[in-house]
Amino acid sequence: MNPDYTVITHPLIQHKLTFMRNENTTTDNFRRLLREISQMLAYEVTRDLPTEMTTISTPLATIESPVISGKKLCLVSILRAGNGMLDGMLDVLPAARIGHIGLYRDPETLEPVEYYFKMPDDIGARLVIVVDPMLATGNSAIAALHRLKESGAATIKYVCLLASPEGMAALRKAHPDVPVVTAAVDERLNEHGYIVPGLGDAGDRMFGTR
Ligand code: URA
Repeated sequence: MNPDYTVITHPLIQHKLTFMRNENTTTDNFRRLLREISQMLAYEVTRDLPTEMTTISTPLATIESPVISGKKLCLVSILRAGNGMLDGMLDVLPAARIGHIGLYRDPETLEPVEYYFKMPDDIGARLVIVVDPMLATGNSAIAALHRLKESGAATIKYVCLLASPEGMAALRKAHPDVPVVTAAVDERLNEHGYIVPGLGDAGDRMFGTR
């Protein structure tokens, strides 16, 4: 994958995303769909992981067969909506470590304020995959990536479900070294910092709050 952004246009993802966007989709279905799409996004974001050959014996023969090599993984959830992507990612990447960054958006300025940061000690030796479903203004994503780099993270990718064109441009400009994978780039950001058409508040919809 180039250090750029990739929109995954796979029909299964687009189909599931349509149901997530629908305001009539129930909380349990919304969670399940996010988990299923996250599995597929995990598959895409790890597409270029290096492999090496190892010798194994099947019941019938001894062969050289590929296993993943290189850096171990750390998933980083931007709280709280990022947590909704963790289960699906872990279905595919069960051995990954998990970090959390707590950032909330100041409702007036839309600027991120950090309230929590907990990472594995060896973050610098891991491929870090940051997850947050909605890349809206990009402010939280940009701040989270700055903070991760400050704490030693060296190889980082960013995965979201939906992006606004404004958020994607801002993130690419601030962190051109971080490849981004998303299921869609929507039309625009509205004056309240919501993605349009989007799916509303992802955290509220997955946790059933409002
Ligand atoms: N966060 C959300 O959950 N939804 C948006 O549209 C923007 C930010």
